[in-house]
Amino acid sequence: MMDNWPQEAWNQIVTKVSRTSERIGARFPHASVNGEYVLEPAYWWTAGFWPGLLWLIYRDTRDERLRAYAESCEQQLDEVMAAYDKLDHDMGFMWQLTSVARHKLLDGEAGEGSRRRAMLAANLLVGRYNVKGRYIRAWNPWRPDEDNAGWAIIDCAMNLSLLYWASQTSGDPRFRHVAMEHADTVVEHFIRPDGSVNHIVIFDPDTGERLGVNGGQGYAPNSAWSRGTAWAIYGMALSYKHTREARYLEAAKRAAHFFIANLPEDRVPHWDFRLPEDITKYRDSSAGACAACGLLLIAEFVDETESGLYQQEGERMLHALYMKYGSWDQVGEEGLILQGTSHYPEGKNIDVPLIYGDYFFAEGISRLLKHGELFW
Ligand code: GLY
Repeated sequence: MMDNWPQEAWNQIVTKVSRTSERIGARFPHASVNGEYVLEPAYWWTAGFWPGLLWLIYRDTRDERLRAYAESCEQQLDEVMAAYDKLDHDMGFMWQLTSVARHKLLDGEAGEGSRRRAMLAANLLVGRYNVKGRYIRAWNPWRPDEDNAGWAIIDCAMNLSLLYWASQTSGDPRFRHVAMEHADTVVEHFIRPDGSVNHIVIFDPDTGERLGVNGGQGYAPNSAWSRGTAWAIYGMALSYKHTREARYLEAAKRAAHFFIANLPEDRVPHWDFRLPEDITKYRDSSAGACAACGLLLIAEFVDETESGLYQQEGERMLHALYMKYGSWDQVGEEGLILQGTSHYPEGKNIDVPLIYGDYFFAEGISRLLKHGELFW
């Protein structure tokens, strides 16, 4: 590998995002279709990734135009905070990369409004906690007759950082307690003995009894959705970062070993690691980018005899995304990394750039360049 490839990759990211920001501005892109990012409403779970990407770049370049877009996105989320029915477990993704990022980056008064917003979001997230089942509830019902009060999903592992942050900032341990209860449920019910991961686990919301699993965005209940595995790797590594409880690091490592062992030759995962022959093995570059960030974090916590595995594999995955999946030569493509898969079972956004893939790719590269502390 060329020594300076992370800097080259970063320069490409900055150039492309600066250009794309002229069209997108303070709005909420999700998937790039035919070269252009399709915008979503502010309540969609992906709303934090574009402002998060802008903050990553602002931290390095101090481009005030990008900061203004990120701040406007954060303000637009205020309306969502009051739209209870539209909110779900993903409040961490939304407010961590807007309000917490801003609070961490800007000192004093400039960050005060952001602190308040992130605390409000943390309170709403804690309000989704089911005491009997020890899980944070996933979605609200999409239809009046739908009963999903017992559903918990692996994605929520990434939202726990908001709760750890809330306890650190306020001195009130309640948020951390809830985060750790949910993290323990992830260890017990989501990460399987071989390191593969369930997407959805269903509990009886009254008794807390485990009723079963659902394949969700994976191919089948017993398959291995790669982005879910990535959420588990990074989410559990982050729970370890905030608590230093060894069981979370062990869980992150178990999921990481499964992920690494199942990567194809080019180091970019298929959307599910257990697909029958007749199902197209589309890649999910976003799973690779998120998992790489998780591997880099694990590398920081294990001793030097172990850290090389995680560091080198994380770097190799980011390098593969940069070299083989980057859109750098495609002027007509707004996405940074190609071939993400959002939701194969529903046929949505398959083989396209995804804003969270772009975000985690940029986060991983900025991590290699040691630009600063994690927003998570
Ligand atoms: N949180 C939804 C997803 O990973 O697609």
